[in-house]
Amino acid sequence: MWETNGLLGAILTQKLPNHPKEIQHLCTMQVHNFSAGPCILPQEVMQQAAEAVKSFGPGGLSLIEMSHRSKEFVAVMEEARALAKSLRDLPDRYEVLFLQGGASLGFLTAAYNLLPENGSAHYVDTGTWANNAIKEARHLGEIDVLASSKETNYDHIPSFDAPRGGSYLHITSNNTIFGTQYAQLPKAPVPLVADMSSDIFSRSFDAEDYALIYAGAQKNMGPAGTVFYAVDPDRIGKTGRNIPSYLDLNVHIKKESMFNTPPVFSVYVTLLMLRWMRDQGGLEAMQSRAAARAAAMYNEIDRNPLFVGHAEIGSRSQMNATFRLAEGVDGAAFDALWAEAGISGIKGHRSVGGYRASMYNALPLESVQVLVSTMQHFEQHHG
Ligand SMILES: Cc1ncc(COP(=O)(O)O)c(C=O)c1O
Repeated sequence: MWETNGLLGAILTQKLPNHPKEIQHLCTMQVHNFSAGPCILPQEVMQQAAEAVKSFGPGGLSLIEMSHRSKEFVAVMEEARALAKSLRDLPDRYEVLFLQGGASLGFLTAAYNLLPENGSAHYVDTGTWANNAIKEARHLGEIDVLASSKETNYDHIPSFDAPRGGSYLHITSNNTIFGTQYAQLPKAPVPLVADMSSDIFSRSFDAEDYALIYAGAQKNMGPAGTVFYAVDPDRIGKTGRNIPSYLDLNVHIKKESMFNTPPVFSVYVTLLMLRWMRDQGGLEAMQSRAAARAAAMYNEIDRNPLFVGHAEIGSRSQMNATFRLAEGVDGAAFDALWAEAGISGIKGHRSVGGYRASMYNALPLESVQVLVSTMQHFEQHHG
């Protein structure tokens, strides 16, 4: 790894003559992609996606130039919905949808489908995205913020008593920006609604607790462009609201996720990713891969005196590790080192600063080991 990455570093800093083919090869094969999203996908998924863009349907039609009503694409949508349901082990009655609008439209969709006229709901404020969910839901009714960790720059998941009233409790299971995650998902006497954009398909939990789960695909399950919804049809559509068609989950359920033209490319690549997860051993395998990556990363953050973690230990995310340099440490040499090692996407979000290593389902443990070695190398050569 180090040898090849040294070569990559040399090429990138132009110590070697230009060899476009080699550069292309090293860049696609050797970048350790820690991007927070859109993010890393497995090479084999990327290759199959590229093939499908070239030729997919009858007569060699491209996936992105054929009808979404064709039997080939209908089969893609059906398999993606069924596979997501079985991989996540959702109860039979649940419906899976792949819609557009990002998780950001999910904030509003959740409220439209679950918050009755003149009703109220409870939200937990664990960061930027949770806040956006609150803002959107407030267009439609009374929102009680049960707990917030804003005062400490969202460095932990706040504790709270489960609400007894209200229509639902909304949580953001993993906070991408701040690097926190519910170690234990809450239980409540009211239905749960969750934005699981950055930890979907990385661990198992009892889906029966949830009236609705939504997640932008672009972190753990595919490319940007589609949003995964898992809906309990028995618990939605009782709001008494006139819901605009696209925001009405019952409309999408009736139309089997084909109410309008679906994002065909994103749904297909998501299907490839779902197959990849199944072939790796399903949710159990994703869960143990995530645990191994997180253990390697946090061990180093805790061991290395030059780095400090952002999130409190009990709230640490297995998906996004946020950390910064210890007081007074100049990071210029570290920044040069990780760039040389082929590491990409670890600059922290502006609201936290420092670094963020996003370790989604497709990230190999090997990439985390390269980052850990780089941190150790920095420590050894630090003046
Ligand atoms: C937890 C979480 N929720 C929501 C969003 C917003 O997703 P989108 O860009 O798909 O609207 C993000 C984006 O990073 C996120 O991390």
